[in-house]
Amino acid sequence: MSNYHIKHLEEYWQVYRKSVRKPENFWEEIAEEHFLWRIKWEKVLEWDFSKPEVTWYKGAKLNITENCIDRHLTTRANKTAILFEPNDPKEKAQHISYKELHKRVCKFANVLKSKGIEKGDRVCIYLPMIPELAVSVLACARIGAIHSVVFAGFSASALAIRINDCDCKMVICSDGSYRGAKTIDLKVIVDQALETCPGVETNLMINRTGGEVTMKEGRDTWIQPLLDTASADCEATIVDAEDPLFILYTSGSTGKPKGMVHTTAGYMVYTGYTFKNVFQYRENDVYWCTADIGWITGHSYIVYGPLANGATTVMFEGVPSYPDCGRFWEIVEKHKVTQFYTAPTAIRALAKEKLDYVDKHDLSSLKVLGTVGEPINEEAWHWYNDHVGKRKSPIADTWWQTETGGIMISPIPYSTPTIPTFATLPLPGIQPALMDGQGNELKENQVEGRLTIKFPWPSMARTIYGNHDRYRETYFSTFKNMYFTGDGARRDAVGYYRITGRVDDVIIVSGHNLGTAPIEDAINEHPAVAESAIVGFPHDIKGNALYGYITLKETGEVRDQDNLRNEINQLITDKIGPIAKLNKIQFTNGLPKTRSGKIMRRILRKIAEKDTSNLGDTSTLLNPEVVQDIMDNAI
Ligand code: PRX
Repeated sequence: MSNYHIKHLEEYWQVYRKSVRKPENFWEEIAEEHFLWRIKWEKVLEWDFSKPEVTWYKGAKLNITENCIDRHLTTRANKTAILFEPNDPKEKAQHISYKELHKRVCKFANVLKSKGIEKGDRVCIYLPMIPELAVSVLACARIGAIHSVVFAGFSASALAIRINDCDCKMVICSDGSYRGAKTIDLKVIVDQALETCPGVETNLMINRTGGEVTMKEGRDTWIQPLLDTASADCEATIVDAEDPLFILYTSGSTGKPKGMVHTTAGYMVYTGYTFKNVFQYRENDVYWCTADIGWITGHSYIVYGPLANGATTVMFEGVPSYPDCGRFWEIVEKHKVTQFYTAPTAIRALAKEKLDYVDKHDLSSLKVLGTVGEPINEEAWHWYNDHVGKRKSPIADTWWQTETGGIMISPIPYSTPTIPTFATLPLPGIQPALMDGQGNELKENQVEGRLTIKFPWPSMARTIYGNHDRYRETYFSTFKNMYFTGDGARRDAVGYYRITGRVDDVIIVSGHNLGTAPIEDAINEHPAVAESAIVGFPHDIKGNALYGYITLKETGEVRDQDNLRNEINQLITDKIGPIAKLNKIQFTNGLPKTRSGKIMRRILRKIAEKDTSNLGDTSTLLNPEVVQDIMDNAI
């Protein structure tokens, strides 16, 4: 029986049972067999969810880049590590070998050191999907600096909040980025952000678009001349198992994003293990995850998981619709991609296009398909299965989160069943539980409840940067001694899990995790706005879209409502980014509130979903009269 490449359902159960009976032995075996350690651990696991404190591989010493790069140099030096496919199909793809990657990472790391970056310093990376993004992440890890990648679609103020929250000393950005037919001036956004970031000493710039930029003396430096003269040798800094590897921000139920802190050894072991298992990765495969490295999916399953296995990982700079809606399939054919991992929202968008876009490409190289980020609806699942996988490539519907670091619940292709809309079974080592509203575990099958995890796993986030209390409050206080995911789930008659969606104030729009609070905060800054409430409603491509109920201040002034809608969406774009724009904006005379003043979002959600048959008893509200008015004017 192998922990990897599990071959059938029975074997899965054997491995699973072993993994939960003696989790320490299980994770010790995997760490021993598949990774490189400078010093081994004294103890595999120590944990206490009440604090919460979790320590994996205590006392071990390592460097993750030695696992992801150096150790492959003996057998895979000339193998492609990163296969870069540019936005413009006419620009040549780059095949970056492990040897070349080693050189680039070492040079980059030496430049970081020359600019004063040391172990433990935070470095913010704000880059498009170009090889330098992966290289800079790895260069930080090489010297024990903590990277904080911010998705390059975030606005200047969202970037500034993230830079300041973890006191980044350095920013790494590019002059601009290409996205389909558009060129975006990233440097302008960074300049604006840095106006309010006094702690940033250096801004290292990568030339991608060649656009005109203003350089600030003493702060901004082009990196290329520094790389040209930097040494290609850089000794890896040896870090402790529990030293932070990176911070990645995710939305929360207050305006401030949460900087999830991931540490080194457990994250490496778990992403390495799950990558190989879930994608059934074999030596000469070409693996492609279409996510952006600005999100956790890219961290774990473009960079660290694949490279820890010596895989070839594709990085795509562009968008699925450029130059036409066949781009994904053209790339699959061109590079003979074997594993393809994407988001349901992309599948839904492409499924709306002519089938010819898919059919004209040879997709026979594909062996495994994956989805991530949001529930996949039945129709999209079948389209993916029929037209992309040709019913011969199992679909891994992978459920996980920024906080979990790696895939938690997912089919293991060719071994456990796949069922449309079901993430199915927990991976080895993962112990999910469903809870009712009173805090009792629902132990039977055919139940629905809140999804929690009962036992630690190696890649779980250890804290929220600078705010351990918030970490405990958010994840460990709803249910005693359990990690609460914020998701609801159903377990069917045979024990397979189906994720039903968020049960908190987070809305998943096009696979992006958006908190309602930061959006409402942005809207409320508009001088005409008194208050606002955001809810999600079903959207056939985005999964969910945003509906804003906005009450205006009574100034007696008559405003053009369409203008106001545009101003509000512009404000959201400036404060957060275009991904958080509202699809619908309804101006209301008031928002339904409980007597304690809490906005009744449930009612607003139902109205947005056009499901007003059972709004429940509204008579106990502080202001029941507004409900009818909102219903009458719903969009
Ligand atoms: O609601 C779940 C949804 O995405 C949330 C996590 O978002 P984020 O931290 O941005 O990470 C996304 C990439 C891992 C979850 O709480 N989600 C993620 N995967 C699935 C999913 N919902 C249903 N099915 C999935 N496969």
